Amino acid sequence: MKIHRVQTTPFTDQKPGTSGLRKKVSVMRTPHYLENFVQAVFDARPDLHGGTLVLGGDGRYYNREAIQVILRMAVANGVSRVLLGRGGILSTPAASCLIRKYRTQGGIILSASHNPGGPDEDFGIKFNTPNGGPAPERVTEAIHARACELEHYRIAEMPEVDIDRLGRIQVGPMTVSIVDPVDDYAELMQSLFDFDRMRALFTEGRFSMRFDAMQAVTGPYARRILEEMLGAPKGTVVRADPLPDFGGGHPDPNLVHAQDLVQAMAAPDGPDFGAASDGDGDRNMILGRNFFVTPSDSLAVLAANAHRVPGYARGIAGIARSMPTSRAADRVARALGVEAFETPTGWKFFGNLLDAGRVTLCGEESFGTGSDHVREKDGLWAVLFWLDLLAARRESVEAIVRDHWRRFGRDFYTRHDYEGLQEDGARALMQALRRRLDTLPGQRLGDYTVTHADDFAYTDPVDGSQARGQGIRLLFGDTARLVFRLSGTGTSGATLRVYAERFEADAARHGDTAQTALEPLLAVAREVADIPGHTGREAPDVVT
Ligand code: G6P
Ligand code: ZN
Repeated sequence: MKIHRVQTTPFTDQKPGTSGLRKKVSVMRTPHYLENFVQAVFDARPDLHGGTLVLGGDGRYYNREAIQVILRMAVANGVSRVLLGRGGILSTPAASCLIRKYRTQGGIILSASHNPGGPDEDFGIKFNTPNGGPAPERVTEAIHARACELEHYRIAEMPEVDIDRLGRIQVGPMTVSIVDPVDDYAELMQSLFDFDRMRALFTEGRFSMRFDAMQAVTGPYARRILEEMLGAPKGTVVRADPLPDFGGGHPDPNLVHAQDLVQAMAAPDGPDFGAASDGDGDRNMILGRNFFVTPSDSLAVLAANAHRVPGYARGIAGIARSMPTSRAADRVARALGVEAFETPTGWKFFGNLLDAGRVTLCGEESFGTGSDHVREKDGLWAVLFWLDLLAARRESVEAIVRDHWRRFGRDFYTRHDYEGLQEDGARALMQALRRRLDTLPGQRLGDYTVTHADDFAYTDPVDGSQARGQGIRLLFGDTARLVFRLSGTGTSGATLRVYAERFEADAARHGDTAQTALEPLLAVAREVADIPGHTGREAPDVVT
């Protein structure tokens, strides 16, 4: 087998963002671009030489081509074994599961998560470390530094590998083990949840569910687990075939992009339980009949009920949430007498806490929930957790959430997104807020008085690493809070996210909608940040 040393020019824009390197397909296809990044990964992770690499992606456009390139480069860089999902498919949590279970030296996951796919859309690549989690900043920095200085990459000359057949293929000195993408993951789910109890829910016939795979990677996982293993009727999983362009949709499970499901759940004879996952299977949305569970509440409800589920029956060590996620989970942690952590946005910040055994459950407002079973957030896991809870409690989704609010109080919560903004305007808005941080405390804004204002900074309690500039927080006593941050996952323009929350202990007031309950606070947000002035927008594009 011939190994080529190909000359390349350094690419300085290969800095991984919140979740890996995401670019338009056209950029990824620039000659040497993908290769440059992959070589930087191999150089930054010398133990891949002679080691095992997990490889797979969400099946989006360019996935299969990229897999072939990475296989050729893996041989050239001395990888001894690649564990590849059949067809190049692995959901992000399933990849994390394989990396951990087979004690590999890490994995390369091809995905741009919930961003649209197709020739004119997005592609992404990220490296996960041997704990199964997204590379922490010191690793992504090393990869980036290497990408900026590379002059050559190594690639083998070899025929295409047939990635669609299970089994082992020998390519030169490297073994490619092509595995079923679902098997190991399904086994892990069986070890956590009561499959008999969930099966009974379906076979008794009084319960119905709809899972929207959004034509993305969770289709095969949900079909196998829900329909084949748990006996849910065929057709429970809709839009189940993964397509390279996700059917032209935006594979993001929220109230805007999962409209079909939201409508189905509003029908009088609609399903009892609705759920959806995103492009690569790590996000989740949970719905009851005509009832939306905000992700922040979902985390809190799962934590409060974890003792009912086999995998967590012995209790949880602690709960972590990202800073913009509502403080509902903190109330549960307090009641359970376990530690609560507030981390910057991005799943990677949970890694150390999970590895150190400080937390069991984690969640983010961005439709991410997970536990120490893998080191990624896990969409289907969250859905199965809810399903197991419904089977254990035999109550509706809405009843479980309302009961939760009665016990703990309700944290009204919403997020308003202003998308596709001019970067200058968005940055100026944040800068203007930052300049006022010292003078805001004590000021009265509408009905609220600012008691604390900062730009969120975090010191990791396990390794002391620091992250600054993670979003502006305005606290109004212990009840209300506003957070402003710019999205770290977009590929064009800037997105401003405004997060608003207010605690309400009085159960008589829990019936309001979040938008109504939060309108006065949102008016404060618009004014204090001068959103119309800086962005030219009167209203958000997406409200969740
Ligand atoms: C990805 C990460 C999440 C994070 C989210 C934030 O999905 O995996 O951990 O919460 O990005 O996205 P944003 O666009 O708000 O930066
Ligand atoms: Zn995702």
